[in-house]
Amino acid sequence: MNNISGPIAVFDSGYGGLTVLEELRKKLPNNDFIYLGDNARAPYGTRSFDIVYEYTLEAVKELFSMGAHLVILACNTASAKALRTIQQKDLPNIDSNKRVLGVIRPSVEYVAEITKTAKVGVLGTTGTVQSLSYPLELKKQSSNIEVYQEACPMWVPLVENGESNKAGTDYFVKQHIEKLLQLNSDIDTVILGCTHYPMLMDKIKLYTPEHINILSQGSIVANSLVDYLQRHPEIDKRCTRGGSVQYYTTENADKFKQTAGFFLKQDIEVTQINLFQ
Ligand code: DGL
Repeated sequence: MNNISGPIAVFDSGYGGLTVLEELRKKLPNNDFIYLGDNARAPYGTRSFDIVYEYTLEAVKELFSMGAHLVILACNTASAKALRTIQQKDLPNIDSNKRVLGVIRPSVEYVAEITKTAKVGVLGTTGTVQSLSYPLELKKQSSNIEVYQEACPMWVPLVENGESNKAGTDYFVKQHIEKLLQLNSDIDTVILGCTHYPMLMDKIKLYTPEHINILSQGSIVANSLVDYLQRHPEIDKRCTRGGSVQYYTTENADKFKQTAGFFLKQDIEVTQINLFQ
């Protein structure tokens, strides 16, 4: 088992993880990747702990069976609700040589370094906000950081339905930015704690004062993975290098191709798979 090599897998409930995949490919252009979006069951953000864990574990097992030995949960909701159980309880039984990593830890490490006012805003799904993962993890980085959260339940459905650039979306973006910033006028850093949200970046910037730093996770996660692979050469040497990406979705392949192609600005091949029997 130890010597088996394969692509790095990137998983999200839907299209959001593509914002992370893009940055991973920039930093690791020679690596092979598999992307899986569970679009048929997105959004995850309003689902219970048990369901998010169950769906995420199904996806991780599927990605392992496709040959991946390293899975990045490019989904905050899955990272908040499923990652720890998968790492601690499931991986030792599945294959202790395989790894599953999330997006929250690298994000909070970076945010803690750059905030000057120590007032940080988090925009996320209802599930991520209710899990309190960001406040808890940020407090571990620095006990004087104050964290203000706002759940944006409409944002993922808008992205999943191809509405990111439509005029009606402005209402929902403006509403949540204003609510977040009303919580404390000294917030200087806002983390987009959902990988779908960078797809709304143009509109988010429109309603956020310029002095506030808005952070997408893609490049933060990519830098963190490069660092992780340097520190774990035994994992790195099992990553195949051919510069390829295979895209999978649990929804209709043509639909994924159309929406994902819009964000990736390229034509892609997509395969539909079933995670549930
Ligand atoms: N991209 C996922 C995240 O980062 C979206 C969650 C959802 O499906 O609601 O949380």
